[in-house]
Amino acid sequence: MTYIGPWHAESALRLVNSNVNAWDYDSRFVPVETSTIHPVVELASRLVPDSGIEDHPFFRVAAGSRKALEFWVTQELFVTGVFAQLLNLTASAVVNVHQRARLNLVIQGEHGGVRKGAARASHPWLLHKLRESMGIPQEAVTVAAPTHTFLRALAGFMDTPVNALGSLGVGNEQMLVPEYGAVKQAFESAAPDADYAEFLHANIDEDTAHSAIMAHIASELIMRDPSLADGYLAAARGSVIARKEYYDELYEILA
Ligand SMILES: [Fe+2]
Repeated sequence: MTYIGPWHAESALRLVNSNVNAWDYDSRFVPVETSTIHPVVELASRLVPDSGIEDHPFFRVAAGSRKALEFWVTQELFVTGVFAQLLNLTASAVVNVHQRARLNLVIQGEHGGVRKGAARASHPWLLHKLRESMGIPQEAVTVAAPTHTFLRALAGFMDTPVNALGSLGVGNEQMLVPEYGAVKQAFESAAPDADYAEFLHANIDEDTAHSAIMAHIASELIMRDPSLADGYLAAARGSVIARKEYYDELYEILA
C-alpha cells in the first residue's frame, strides 16, 4: 500500500523559479473577481447542453443492467479520484491569491470536511461507499482502456492553466450535472438498493456552482489575455468530446 503517488521532483523547483522570475505584485495581490462571463467562456458552457450526454445509449443499457452500473462504478472510482488530484495541480498554477482561494472552494467541495480522520463527505469516499453497498470487490476495480484514454485526454488538454479550467470545469464539473442525472435514473431502475444517492447528489447539487467558479476565473484570465480564448474553447470542446467517446466505448464493451 502506498499513500503517495508518483512525484516529479523537478516540479516544485520549476514552480519556485518560474514564480520568482515572473513576479508581478499586482497580479498576485489585487482582487480580480468579476461578475462578467467572457463570451468564449459562455460559448464553451453551451457545449454541455448541446452534447446531449444524458441521452447517450449507455444510460439506457445501464437502466436495465446492474452489471453495467457496477462496471460504471469501478471506472468512476478512477475518474473521480484522479480528477480531484488534477484540480489540485491546476490550483498550484493560479498566481493570484484571491483566485486561488476561489478555486480552493471547488477543491474543498470535492473533499469536504474531516472528522475523526475521515473525509466522509468527499466525493471519492462517497463513491467508495457506493462500491461497498453494491458488494463490488476491490479486486474488480481495474482500469478499462477507455477510462485511461479519457483521463489521458483530460490531462492532454491541460497544457496551460486556463486550458485546464476548460478541460476540468466544462468537460467534468459542468458535464457531470446532466450525466449524473441520467446515471441516477439508471440506479433508480436497475439498482435501487445501492447507496447511490449521496454520491450522485453531492455532484449534481454542487457541480453547477463549481463549474461557475471555474468559468469566472477563466473569464478573468481571458479578459486579461484574450490570446488564451482559443485554447480554452478547444480544451473545453475536446474534453466534452472525450467524455462522449468514453461512454461510446463503455457502451461497446457492454454490448
Ligand atoms: Fe465538483
